Amino acid sequence: MLILGIETSCDETAAALVEDGVREISSVIASSQEIHQATGGIVPEVAARKQVEFIVPVIEQTLKKAADVLGERDKSIKGYRDVISKIDALAVTVGPGLIGSLLVGVEAAKALSVAWNKPLIPVNHLIGHIYGNFLRETSLGLGGNLKPGEEPPKNIKFPAVVLIVSGGHTDLVLMKDHGDFDYLGGTLDDAAGEAFDKTARLLGLGKYLGGPLLSKKAAECTHNSLIGRLPRSKMHDNDYDFSFSGLKTAVVRLVDSLSMGGVPVEVIACEFENAVVDVLVHKTMRAVKDYNVPTLLLAGGVAANIQLRTRLKNECEELGVRFFVPPLKLCSDNAIYIASAAYFNQGGSDRPLSEINADPSLGVMDLR
Ligand code: KG4
Ligand code: ZN
Repeated sequence: MLILGIETSCDETAAALVEDGVREISSVIASSQEIHQATGGIVPEVAARKQVEFIVPVIEQTLKKAADVLGERDKSIKGYRDVISKIDALAVTVGPGLIGSLLVGVEAAKALSVAWNKPLIPVNHLIGHIYGNFLRETSLGLGGNLKPGEEPPKNIKFPAVVLIVSGGHTDLVLMKDHGDFDYLGGTLDDAAGEAFDKTARLLGLGKYLGGPLLSKKAAECTHNSLIGRLPRSKMHDNDYDFSFSGLKTAVVRLVDSLSMGGVPVEVIACEFENAVVDVLVHKTMRAVKDYNVPTLLLAGGVAANIQLRTRLKNECEELGVRFFVPPLKLCSDNAIYIASAAYFNQGGSDRPLSEINADPSLGVMDLR
């Protein structure tokens, strides 16, 4: 089954063609990130205008690339119009995200659904992130603990605890099956990625989406002389919730001591990263033990964090729990996992187009 996925929730315009939910045929991503770097933050109107500019060329490029790949297999496929006839369904991110950006993808997908007479499957972006784990390239050596030759999604056994850590969300859920979730907990204030980005800005490491830069800086630290100086909020609370907003104030205090010449920036970055990762790992592993699950899935942009992936992998190995984490390219926003999520959750495929709408405030439990 071939699904064309479309993702436009924030500053990336992405389309991808995916076979049977697990094989990427083609994928194209355009980004307006450089513009937001220059303005030191995202201007939603600017992001939406870029989505309008990119959406048609991105979809066209995705189909052209697919024509090359599929044409090798099936000589009757010569151009991208032949690919269109092979597509079984469309999938689109309906939320959460920026309303202007979301609308561009949703309206484009609806128009194509009518023009091509194909069903459209609405996808929750957060659930989409989880499916970065179900693609075949998710494998050993990238942070998971699969053995050579093993291949998702066959060996992803439910129930699984899932930690979704992105720029806007931090959620722990129990995934009992495709489309069957229990909510365990989440952040009460800032998301983990947001905390990384705000702290990166505070430390002068990056004005927009500086999380990866902060992590890189932290890796330069050879000795953390500040161990335990930043709070591990809610780490020992008897729930699965998180709170990261207090960290900012605590970092400001440490930055003050830095300006007095006391502490190199990489040490603060290291202590910050440790504080966030300590809490994420501790609470996630508690959920894994409490629910006695065979599987842990990590997802979202912050899943690219090397310390987080490595520590969860090691903890899972000790417990004999299967740990899956997407390869780096499937951690950040793309349309591959949107198409994959649609394949495994086709319940929405008979929904009338009038009921498929952009919803910027969708939560992890709202739509699957
Ligand atoms: O999932 P995502 O691409 O966008 C949302 O859906 O929100 O996540 C982006 C977030 C940003 O906050 C970014 O700084 C963070 O993921 N991020 C990282 C790393 N790579 C991306 N945070 C910490 N360490 C990283 N290596
Ligand atoms: Zn995302």
